[in-house]
Amino acid sequence: MTSSQLLALELGAAVVGAGSWVGAAVLAALAPSRRSARFAVALVGVGVVALLAQAGLSGVLVSRHWAFAQERLLFALPLAALGAAIAVIFGLRPLLAAARGWPDRLSAAVPTGMTAAAIAGILGIVARSVIGYPLTLPAAAVLLALAVLTTALAAALFARRGRRQIAGLVAFSALVACTGVGYAWLTDTADPSSLTTPHQHPSNARPALASADAVSVEELRTPPDADGPVASFDLTAGTERLTLASGASVDAWAFGSVPGPELRVTEGDLVKVTLHNADIAEGVTIHWHGVDLPNGDDGVAGVTQNAVRPGDSFQYRFVAEDPGTYWYHTHQHSAEGVKRGLYGTLVVLPKSGIAEQVDLTLPVHTLGRRVLLGETDEGRTVRVEAGQSVRLRLLNTDQVPRRFRIAGTDFRVVAADARDLTAPTPVESAALRIPAGGRLDIAFTMPDTGVLVTTDASSSASLTLTAGEGAATPQVDPDAPDLDLLHYGRHAGTPAVPDGPLIESTMVLDRLPRFLSGIPREAYTVNGRVFPHIPSLDVREGDTVRLTVVNRGWETHPMHIHGHHVLVLSRNGVAATGSPLRLDTFDVQPGEVWEVLLSADNPGIWMDHCHNLDHAVEGMMMALRYEGVTSPFEQGGPHDNHPE
Ligand code: C2O
Ligand code: CU
Repeated sequence: MTSSQLLALELGAAVVGAGSWVGAAVLAALAPSRRSARFAVALVGVGVVALLAQAGLSGVLVSRHWAFAQERLLFALPLAALGAAIAVIFGLRPLLAAARGWPDRLSAAVPTGMTAAAIAGILGIVARSVIGYPLTLPAAAVLLALAVLTTALAAALFARRGRRQIAGLVAFSALVACTGVGYAWLTDTADPSSLTTPHQHPSNARPALASADAVSVEELRTPPDADGPVASFDLTAGTERLTLASGASVDAWAFGSVPGPELRVTEGDLVKVTLHNADIAEGVTIHWHGVDLPNGDDGVAGVTQNAVRPGDSFQYRFVAEDPGTYWYHTHQHSAEGVKRGLYGTLVVLPKSGIAEQVDLTLPVHTLGRRVLLGETDEGRTVRVEAGQSVRLRLLNTDQVPRRFRIAGTDFRVVAADARDLTAPTPVESAALRIPAGGRLDIAFTMPDTGVLVTTDASSSASLTLTAGEGAATPQVDPDAPDLDLLHYGRHAGTPAVPDGPLIESTMVLDRLPRFLSGIPREAYTVNGRVFPHIPSLDVREGDTVRLTVVNRGWETHPMHIHGHHVLVLSRNGVAATGSPLRLDTFDVQPGEVWEVLLSADNPGIWMDHCHNLDHAVEGMMMALRYEGVTSPFEQGGPHDNHPE
């Protein structure tokens, strides 16, 4: 059973448990007949069984990861057990007697006991689904106080106590509840933001570096006269009304076209890109997704630069060090900007060139209601000679995972996220599931028939390679399973965990009610907090971080780390056995636990966020911060910087 299913079952058991205690309380309060007393006894039984089920399921969840069960084991279960014990001790015997027809009126203790169990169950559900992981001491204290107060209130009501006592208990409970909510509001809105203020994890508290070593992100830039042949580009961002191949027209934001022009450079080039903003009122930047460049050119508004306003420009510079497939996109109001079309592809060719004779780039992107594969929302046909070697660079620039399907040939996956794979074997029939923001390069030899490339995003946008007129179009296998890159290619006996300081860090992803800029909503959280209040992951150059990412929610989170590739160690406790997998974006599906290794070798303040950019807007965004690095830029402010 998957962890997600276990989480759902455990929650279900908690809901059934709480529901049955509520039912038992109502029946007990209504001076039961024989029949309803029997029913109440049965509900007590259900409550107890549900409690046992929760205990068992929590035990299994612990074996998957502590973060799935922490608040259950330390809080919800003991509280539910206590409530159930009170209910059974005070209520079971009188209920059994009533069920046998002894018509004594039930004492107030009976419904009070049942209510105590119901309240315990409900607050346990609140701990799971509202507070989440980690359950903090203040939150636990508030919930416990509420449990005691509301149980006392129930007792007073059932015993028909005086109005004043009841009113006092109601007021006191409300006060505690409001204090809890107010405290949450303060933590979710209080300055300073974690992006510009360092946060020291207690686990890696070390003597601070001398402040003389402090460096600003603005100093972490490539000098304009760095060595290397210069590859210069100009990109102008502006609003545009586009007519797509299908005839559909879309109001887009574009770097001249959608996608923006493909930038092709060669390893070792000094790339200079000047960004101009024609008329994007919200501002624009360029982030080089997947390029591990110096921090000052990373293009994040409010962290590494100010948003470029209409009429302004900014020059990005970096030396193209690692060959591969990348993309670029705005990182100012990025969710809106990328969806509207501010993206393009970047290819770094190795100095020695690539082996393939045909080299095509295929980003899949949803623009308005249409899906583009490359430049077109229609089918496109390209003539390729049989026997020629072909490389296809598949990119997912959408918000959700996309599956590419290749029909008509077997192929090898030669690179993932711009890092070559070791000893890739031929794949005959498999879907390539690419996380939002991710890239896969595949290679094959052109057969003398046709090759068809489709995605699950659209039935109309496709690419057909044909070796000649009349070559039959191959059939896509819609049932082909996903290729699992964790077990693809050959393991080269990688040095697993290097020597030197090892920092353990855990990111628990969830969806919880929080205050986003002061407004209550269902947010996307990391360790229970939302951007910009998620404590940064603080490192020092030379550190190695073993990062565990746990998804407690019901949605996939493609986690993207700027400025670094991480080495995948395991997923759900199963070690990666294929080619060493170095990714900048990895899909953490519901219930999954990923363990990755990050070498802190690129000083800066780096964003670390979900690349379903709508989730980033709603909180799932944080910083990886090197000690001693500062930023003069701010969120909001006169430039209205909004990296999300
Ligand atoms: Cu491609 Cu911060 O993102
Ligand atoms: Cu997400």
